[in-house]
Amino acid sequence: MSEADQKLWTEVDAFFDEALIGTDAVLEATLAATEAAGMPMIAVSRSQGRLLALLCQAAGARRVLELGTLGGYSTIWMARTLPPGGKVVTIEAMPTHAEVARRNIAAAGMTERVDIRLGAGLTVLPLLAAEKGDPFDFAFIDADKANIPAYFDWAVRLSRPGSLIVVDNVTRGGAVIDAASGVADVEGVRALRNALATDQRVSATVVQTVGSKGYDGFILARVV
Ligand code: DHB
Ligand code: MG
Repeated sequence: MSEADQKLWTEVDAFFDEALIGTDAVLEATLAATEAAGMPMIAVSRSQGRLLALLCQAAGARRVLELGTLGGYSTIWMARTLPPGGKVVTIEAMPTHAEVARRNIAAAGMTERVDIRLGAGLTVLPLLAAEKGDPFDFAFIDADKANIPAYFDWAVRLSRPGSLIVVDNVTRGGAVIDAASGVADVEGVRALRNALATDQRVSATVVQTVGSKGYDGFILARVV
């Protein structure tokens, strides 16, 4: 993709965002605080945040699982959709990220609806399972890509029939089709793709995207 492509995709995102979503001071402040903390600016875009919110609502989500809190941008988008008593349980491996997210989530007035679990996903998920809480209605997998297959498996196990699961960043700039990539992120997505070929627990599809965040895509799965 060229610089001209990227410029156009960003402008088209802005064109629609302006009319369909508008600006939100709390969410903009979340991004500003994330940037000020020196964290990577890899949160979902505004339109993708709205998409997550719409999917949570379509799924009637009361309990949401998120892997990869980062600054809490997507967390806030999803938390805002929840009914009283609803909760986003969001797992973050980096203490500094979790602290920035905690402040952003508090500034958004979402503290009561968000449960940040600090630790590596593969450490926290078994602990979460042992709590035997209600199943998650929606899961957003947006953490380290190498562990995507394991995260997806946990998300299914912690869900119920009808739950939706979104896996972010699955195209890896197109490298996902390269069997000889050797890059851990790519291998992680490829392994999920291969597992889905025989995973009878879900029905899944991929949506490739362009926009302010470049060329990317997500897998959307429904637990059968
Ligand atoms: C990366 C990770 C993300 O979750 C994302 O949305 C974009 C990029 C990355 O690790 O490069
Ligand atoms: Mg992502």
